[in-house]
Amino acid sequence: MGAKVYMAARDETRAKEAIDRLDKGGRDPGLGQVIWHALDLRDSRSAKESAERFVAREKRLDILVNNAALITDLGKLQENSDGILESMAVNYLGPYIFTRTLLQLLESTTLLDGADVRIINVGSSGHSFVKYLEYGSKDAWNHPFKWYLIPNFERYKYSKLAMHLWTNDLARRLSEQQSKVMVLITQPGAILSDGVIHSLSRLPYPPLWIWLAGLVMHPQTLGAYTSVFAACAPRDNPEISQGAYIYPPNVAVAQAPAALDEVRQRQLAEFTEEFLQSIGV
Ligand SMILES: NC(=O)c1ccc[n+]([C@@H]2O[C@H](COP(=O)([O-])OP(=O)(O)OC[C@H]3O[C@@H](n4cnc5c(N)ncnc54)[C@H](OP(=O)(O)O)[C@@H]3O)[C@@H](O)[C@H]2O)c1
Repeated sequence: MGAKVYMAARDETRAKEAIDRLDKGGRDPGLGQVIWHALDLRDSRSAKESAERFVAREKRLDILVNNAALITDLGKLQENSDGILESMAVNYLGPYIFTRTLLQLLESTTLLDGADVRIINVGSSGHSFVKYLEYGSKDAWNHPFKWYLIPNFERYKYSKLAMHLWTNDLARRLSEQQSKVMVLITQPGAILSDGVIHSLSRLPYPPLWIWLAGLVMHPQTLGAYTSVFAACAPRDNPEISQGAYIYPPNVAVAQAPAALDEVRQRQLAEFTEEFLQSIGV
């Protein structure tokens, strides 16, 4: 549709290869641009610096899609340089900092011609199945879920619930401020993504598991369906509203009660700001 799209990714070679595939796969000349923008969400300073570079480069930002995530840490309990477990660092804290740093630009874009400014956070239905609900300390963020059946999946779900809590807190604050910026959260559906294939490749006889997963999961071509809808459907579409949770096939559904708990949302928001202050970000 002629948009200028920045693909924010950490690896320049792979990002440029992906852009090349898009160009060769039918993005005709004149249909906008796709440009790589360096972003590593694992490191708080780097996420902030990436957003600052964007602000220095562009005068408007209409749509921000926070899609990247570490969908499984493959059982390795790694921390970033500030001692935050990788799953929380990549899936919550990095996107939080990146978005916070871009918020002023998103706000100023609402004043420009033809603007309909949105933040799309990619959540997960896994947020509904989190048993450990503490979000007010570094120890809580680093909870290893050691005694659970699949600890890395528990860490992933915990970080995704953080994203839902943050989205709901942000939606409320934007409404209170009568901001024209809209934030929505999506669930892409069960997608046989590269990340899923990579995780299945760790099991004995991977082709079998990948084949079985292919029977129940959707192909990658559908992976962006809910996010593109949330980003682009007109505001008078009944599914589109501040804080809506967009689920396949593009319908607004209720989030789990744990995500709607305002006390928990505030606990996460307050500790996040306290933590960022403590590390000077
Ligand atoms: N697949 C599903 O069934 C499913 C279900 C529910 C929700 N989701 C959500 O959908 C989104 C996409 O997931 P996916 O299945 O497509 O996963 P994926 O294939 O693993 O893709 C994740 C993307 O995140 C990027 N990423 C990881 N760590 C990063 C970092 N430190 N900095 C910047 N980018 C980083 C990866 O880049 P690299 O290539 O550099 O690693 C990759 O492009 C995620 O938010 C996930 O939680 C997926």
